[in-house]
Amino acid sequence: TDIIARCRSIAAAHAHLDGPLLPVLHAVQDHIGHVPMAAYPALAEELGLSTAEIHGVVSFYPDFRTEPGGRRVLRVCRAEACQAMGAAALGEDLKARLGVEWHGTTEDGAVTLEPAYCLGLCACAPAALVDDRPVGRVTAERLERLAREGSA
Ligand code: FES
Repeated sequence: TDIIARCRSIAAAHAHLDGPLLPVLHAVQDHIGHVPMAAYPALAEELGLSTAEIHGVVSFYPDFRTEPGGRRVLRVCRAEACQAMGAAALGEDLKARLGVEWHGTTEDGAVTLEPAYCLGLCACAPAALVDDRPVGRVTAERLERLAREGSA
């Protein structure tokens, strides 16, 4: 399909790099919005890797998504400083409000909920990113409102 052809040409454009896999995966996610599993064989072929290697790297990094995301992506920090400020309860509350699990997208396609592991915002824990916008000392209510803002 078209998406696979686009993945293939992104991979070909980066194949000359030393250790091209991460830059390719970032470029694919930037251009397509996610890293489709259906494209693993094409990526593997272009980069001279196995599909298992592609799968290993995509699943290792929480930044990569294998399904299309929502119009807004909410990344909620689950690392230590945020845990100490109630991030676990915050995450549970958000999952319940949005009706999704981690990595899930709301039924209306508005919001994807992703876990994050330290956003460098420990001083204002618990912290999150709404798309690229950092927000600190968040509550589930505020995060849900920010994530749904302007996405209706
Ligand atoms: Fe959450 Fe650093 S631990 S931002």
